This record gives sequence, structure tokens and C-alpha cells, in this order.
Amino acid sequence: MYRYDQFDEAFVRERVAQFRGQVARRIDGSLTEDEFKPLRLKNGVYLQLHAYMLRIAIPYGTLSSVQLRQLALIGERYDRGYGHFTTRQNLQFNWPKLRDIPDILDLLADVGMHCIQTSGNCIRNTTADHFAGAAADEVEDPRPTAELIRQWSTMHPEFDYLPRKFKIAVTGAARDRAAIRAHDIGIQVVRHPVSGEVGYRLFVGGGLGRTPMIGKLVRDFLPKAHLLAYLQSLMRVYNLEGRRDNKYKARVKILVHEIGIEEFRARVEAEFAALDPAAIAADPEEVARIEAYFAPPAFVSLPETSQRLAADRARNAAFDRWVETNTFPHRQPGYAAVTVSLKPVGGVPGDATSDQMRTVADLADAHSFGEIRVSHHQNLILPHVRQDELHALWTGLVAAGLAEANAGLITDIIACPGLDYCALATARSIPIAQAISRRFGSADRQREIGELGIKISGCINACGHHHVGHIGILGLEKSGQESYQVTLGGDATENAAIGQLLGPGITAAEVPDAIERLVAVYLAHRHDGETFAEAVRRLGIEPFKAGFLASQPAEAAHAAA
Ligand code: HEM
Ligand code: SF4
Repeated sequence: MYRYDQFDEAFVRERVAQFRGQVARRIDGSLTEDEFKPLRLKNGVYLQLHAYMLRIAIPYGTLSSVQLRQLALIGERYDRGYGHFTTRQNLQFNWPKLRDIPDILDLLADVGMHCIQTSGNCIRNTTADHFAGAAADEVEDPRPTAELIRQWSTMHPEFDYLPRKFKIAVTGAARDRAAIRAHDIGIQVVRHPVSGEVGYRLFVGGGLGRTPMIGKLVRDFLPKAHLLAYLQSLMRVYNLEGRRDNKYKARVKILVHEIGIEEFRARVEAEFAALDPAAIAADPEEVARIEAYFAPPAFVSLPETSQRLAADRARNAAFDRWVETNTFPHRQPGYAAVTVSLKPVGGVPGDATSDQMRTVADLADAHSFGEIRVSHHQNLILPHVRQDELHALWTGLVAAGLAEANAGLITDIIACPGLDYCALATARSIPIAQAISRRFGSADRQREIGELGIKISGCINACGHHHVGHIGILGLEKSGQESYQVTLGGDATENAAIGQLLGPGITAAEVPDAIERLVAVYLAHRHDGETFAEAVRRLGIEPFKAGFLASQPAEAAHAAA
């Protein structure tokens, strides 16, 4: 795992000391809230509906057990005993007291963490595939690239005051698990089809919010050594030409849309041609130093499959189900990557108590080289588990209420904080997720339905990714009432697509029935082995629209299927 060098350490400590002074001046009244706002936002401190919120960066979603234990301690000592893992691989504390935040930042700095650039119009936390370094299908671990971007983008003097926030995601595999085309820049590590050289494919202008757009291909192949020069060129075009007159039109997606991808590409390439990539590229020694931190852990040599695992699965049906849904093929024979679900049936998506964080940290030490990942699905991952230790791990997770066998299934719902916390919300999203989760909570029912991603946002800002949910739910306010729009056919993977609206808004109470009717259409029409998303792509939205609009009770629709 990457570890701060002395420069990082000194820089983060200085920032904490500086912010401590700013907080003291706010508390004694010498700074007004308006004066304090830009200062707190530089340090990840938001003001929500009921309290301040602190957003902590988890670069490319990678955490050590030591860091996770520290987050548990902070949650217990300074918050309400839990934290919320978000779709951008961050952790948010919803109830910190302003006077405590400098102490929290010091505790974070003790374990190489901070909140810098988790808000404001700068380059935010660079996210990555949560199975990075473990996935059997990856060309290369994307995290050294993401770390390089983190170093380059942190306090980059030219890009500290952009027209708007800027988000970058990196994946190392053709199968996109990092939603790269929903980001301002999406980077895919690829192998050149002719030369075999490893380089990058880049997308630009993706983003959700009130004007959702899928990222467009801007460069099909970029040699690795040119990455920083190309990013600098692209950021320059955006920084100079992105709109600053209207914050709703300020994201790079709007610039790309307004001038067209061809013109945007031409401007970036012209900028790039005027630069000397070698002068901007990171020193090869520094690149090698970064890469060394991500070297594979000390795997032992094992057969491809574990007989012990097969015996454990045969003996225990619940364990067998969990292995089927919550493990992922590992590149190292005899190992698996494991999803620790933060979606118990009826629970709050992405929340983990301090006790649960400690349990996961302990289990990571025992079974996964002390490493944990945060996924943009708001789950945790133990990336490197021996197959023959899966049963021991599962037993530990069961005891902590963390063994829900639902990764990728209908109850693995993404939801933003919505009206329960967020000052911008127009409707609640957490209770909607809970109601759907309870409705579809039966283990057999979920497995029968198979892979299906529901994503919920509490306003048009789309923090819950609803546009790219197979089923998306957007909470709005209509004549003083919460009203939910339902979209279908969104996709956050390499088949990225924005969902289409199915009909007029419905009430919160109607949402679970509406989902039932959509599921019924799918079950009635699916081909053998066809997932919900594949069936929607084949059938189009019409049959689902008819199901959604149907007024018959859901049970009847289900029976008719
Ligand atoms: C204080 C709470 C929050 C505030 C004020 C806030 C604000 C916003 C705003 C204004 C946008 C729209 C940006 C645009 O259209 O240009 C947005 C987008 C987004 N936010 Fe949040 N957000 C909050 C919490 C969260 C949380 C909890 C998550 C993760 C669960 C999150 C993840 C995202 C994502 C993924 C997007 C859409 C991607 C994009 O930027 O295009 N945000 N947020
Ligand atoms: S989508 Fe809206 S309600 Fe949800 S967290 Fe974002 S800004 Fe808040």
C-alpha cells in the first residue's frame, strides 16, 4: 500500500494546524460563516441539514486495517458510532462538532489520511476499480496510475480554481467497475492491439447531475509516459474555456457538448503538441517507487481451486450462497476477492458502525494482508482472501451482521443521504432504499431475479448515480410532496447508458410496487441466463413502460408473469 513520504506528512500536518486556527476564529466570531465557508470547504467540511459533515478521502478506495480502525475510533469518539461510505469511495461523518474537527484531522494525519480536495472546484479524489490488483481480468493494477494522478493533482497551482469540481476514475480492465464514463475524465488501462504496449484509453465529459452525459472517447491510445502531459493539456482547455458564468453549465461535459468532441479533441491535441511530455512526465524513479508500493502481497502458491472450500460449501447452504454472490475471481490461483456487503436487508446503504469497521479491519488482518477497499457501490472489499479461509472469514462476518449474500443483487442498492441529511435534497432516498430492500429481502427471491442495480438520489444532483442504475429512482418535490421519478436502462459499465424515464412521478409508498411490476416484466420475458440489464437492452423500454404504468396490484402482475 502507498505510504506518505515526509513531504506529504509535513504538508498535511501544516494544513491541520492552519485549519485549527480558522476553526478557532470561526468559534470566537472573528470569522463569519460566509468568510469561513471557502476555508472549511478546502478541508472537506460541509454544512448539511442538521450538522456539519466531514468528507474523508480514501484515494482509489484503498484502506489499510490501521486506517479503518482509526476511522472506527473517530466515529465512536467524535460522531455517533458510524460512518457512511459513498459512491466516490469516500467516507462521510454526519455529526462531527466543528470544535472537534481539527482533532479529527490530526487523528487522520496519524494514519496518512486527510480531507483535502474532497470538496470545492478542484480535482477530487481519484477513484479506481475496487478489485484493482486482484481482478483476474485486469491488464494492469490501475492504482499506481491513480496515485500518480493524486500526487500531480494535489494542490496543482494551475488547477486549484477550476470552473467546477472535477472527477477522475481509472480502471485496469475492459470490464468497467469504476463507472469511468460517468466521470469528467475516465481512464482505462489498455494493451495496444498491435504492439502489445500498455497505455491508456481516455474518455472525457461524463457526469451525472442535472445534465447527465456519458463520457466520450477523446484518445484511443496514449503511451503511459505521456499521461500527465495529456491530462495537463485537457485540464488547460477546460480551465480556460469552461464556463464560469453559470455553475450549472460549468462542468467539462457541457464544454464538450457545446463545441463537440472533435473540436474538443483538436484543442487538447494542439495544447499537447505544444508541450514537452518528457519534461512534464513523472521521474521514472518516482514512478517505480510508486509502483513498488502496489506490488502484490506475499501470496502462497496454491491450486486453482480449494477442496476445503468445496467441502465447506457442500455442508452449508447459506455459506454456499454467499460464496456464489459475494466472491470474485482473483488473478492468483487459490484466492478470491470478497465483497463485504454494507446492505443488510432494511439497512442504510453504505453505513458501517465503528464495531463493524473494527471487525472488518481484524478480518482483513487475518485473511487479506490487512487490506480493504471501498467500492463505489458503497460496499467494502477484502481483496486477497485464500479460498480455503473463506468459511472462517464468513463466520466472522456473520457475527458482525456483514454477511448479506447480495452483491450485485436487487437489495444491493446505492442511495445518497437524501433528505435525512442533505441540505440540497428534495426528497428522502434512504427510506426508499430500505422499503425496496425489505420487499425483495428473501434470499431465494433475490437470487431468482439475479443481477439488478437500483440507484437512488434525493435530488437532481444525482449523487446516488440514479441515471446509470438499471432502475434509477430520483426523489423530487412536487406541490410540497415527495415524488419519485423512475428510469430504466441506465448502465455504469463499459455499456454505459443514461436511463430513460418510465412515466409520471409516483409517491414513496408506490415505489416498491412499481419495482415489482418492472421485475415481473423481466421475469416474464427473459431468455435463459439473461440479466435484467441485458433483457432491457434487447426488449427496449416499451414493455417495461407498460408494466410500470399498469394499475393492477403488483401481486397480480407477478402472478400473470
Ligand atoms: C453535503 C452533501 C452533498 C452535497 C452538498 C453534494 C453536492 C453535489 C452536487 C451539487 C452535485 C452536482 C454536480 C453537478 O451537476 O455539477 C453532486 C454530484 C455528485 N455527488 Fe454529491 N453532494 C453531497 C453528497 C454526496 C454523497 C454522499 C455522495 C456519494 C454517495 C456524492 C457523490 C456525488 C456523485 C457521484 C455525483 C454525480 C457525479 C458528477 O459529479 O457528475 N455526493 N453532488
Ligand atoms: S443527490 Fe441531492 S440529496 Fe442526494 S446527496 Fe446529492 S445533493 Fe444531496
